[in-house]
Amino acid sequence: MDSLKIVGGAKLSGKVSVSAAKNSSLPILISTLLSSQKIQLQGLPALRDMSTTFKLLTNLGATIEDIGNGDFNISCATVNSTEATYDLVKTMRASILVLGPLLARYGEARVSLPGGCAIGDRPVDIHLSNLEKLGAKIVLEKGYVHATCEKLKGAELELSFPSVGATENLMMAATLAQGVTLIKNAAQEPEIIDLADFLNKMGAKVEGAGTSVIKISGVESLGPAKHRPIGDRIEAITYIICGLATNSSIEITDFCPEYIEDVINILKTMGANLEVMKNGVKTKPSSLKPFQAVTAPYPGFPTDAQAQLMALMALIPGRSTIVENIFENRFMHVPELNRLGANIKVDGKIATIDGVQSFSGAEVMCTDLRASAALVIGALVAVGETKISRVYHLDRGYEKIEEKLQALGASITRVS
Ligand code: UD1
Repeated sequence: MDSLKIVGGAKLSGKVSVSAAKNSSLPILISTLLSSQKIQLQGLPALRDMSTTFKLLTNLGATIEDIGNGDFNISCATVNSTEATYDLVKTMRASILVLGPLLARYGEARVSLPGGCAIGDRPVDIHLSNLEKLGAKIVLEKGYVHATCEKLKGAELELSFPSVGATENLMMAATLAQGVTLIKNAAQEPEIIDLADFLNKMGAKVEGAGTSVIKISGVESLGPAKHRPIGDRIEAITYIICGLATNSSIEITDFCPEYIEDVINILKTMGANLEVMKNGVKTKPSSLKPFQAVTAPYPGFPTDAQAQLMALMALIPGRSTIVENIFENRFMHVPELNRLGANIKVDGKIATIDGVQSFSGAEVMCTDLRASAALVIGALVAVGETKISRVYHLDRGYEKIEEKLQALGASITRVS
């Protein structure tokens, strides 16, 4: 199992380009199941979750050709199975997204239930109950969701919570349903807009993505398309926080700053000296003050940036708090940050962070994807060497993180 060795204290400088968004690339790749025509996806990030999705699709019978530079030709004309097995689904919850497309195109899907996950229960009830409203018959058997249908029929759906995955699953399923589907209280994340753009390029009729009501007018079939997913806003936030935590001037490029407006406003309120450009943000040395942050569905502060913000807050004199409203049990980075010298206490969904002067290097362990990013931020600041183990969590969502940080001047090496 790989680990990272980071010697903290280096000032960072230069430019870092973010990769394509993991949370766009995964659903977009999965949505190719809706078409029998040739699809080209460009600039996909080299991540463990992407390899898992390639495996998932090839197991279903899809043909995937790697044409270099993150570009792939994909054909789902050869799909001959509708079953996503436990060994793949257990490593990546997003596998549940094959349910909608398989059901819409083949009338059947058998997908393993994602099961317990490190950052909370994460049920799929919103996905399933609304697929039933589109006409699916769903049976849970032996840890699998078995869904069947004649032809899905458009319906008016109202989500009990704006779940990102459920919005994506239902939006994909509805593209090939008979008639019109309305998804009310839909998730509004930028990645939903990106998926809708791709579906529309394939010939779907999706309107309103990025708002709380999405209208999908079903079509008979979807055709060929080419698409390049948007830049990863969570990766961008992570590097912005790396810049602020190390009091450095760095430039983070190739994403849309509008998509992180709430985060930029919060960081600016905390005193961050940020310059917002057309497709990026520059950090400058800043004197920061505490803040009370609350995670919320988009456009609120993203839960996926909560751990990274906490690492930053832990080094700001005074008391900050974070309320985690999206996932229960998403504070697993707290004991690890405390090992570096942070003073953070958790009570239910509230973390109280009393800022300390500095961190000191220690042995720490990744527990989930974004928790790992928080540890990297902490280690960049800590005095001495930090060894971060179980880096496979980080590799799920950060492309070439050590190369990117080395190029910025950090002392970071991977140990196999
Ligand atoms: C997606 C993102 C993930 C991000 C999360 C919230 C991808 C691949 N992953 O995950 O990085 O942290 O959005 O922004 O895009 N819930 C239910 N029932 C359901 C579905 C969800 O109760 O049927 C609950 C979950 O347990 C969780 C909350 O809703 O507490 C948010 O989940 P959801 O928005 O669905 O997140 P994901 O799509 O899994």
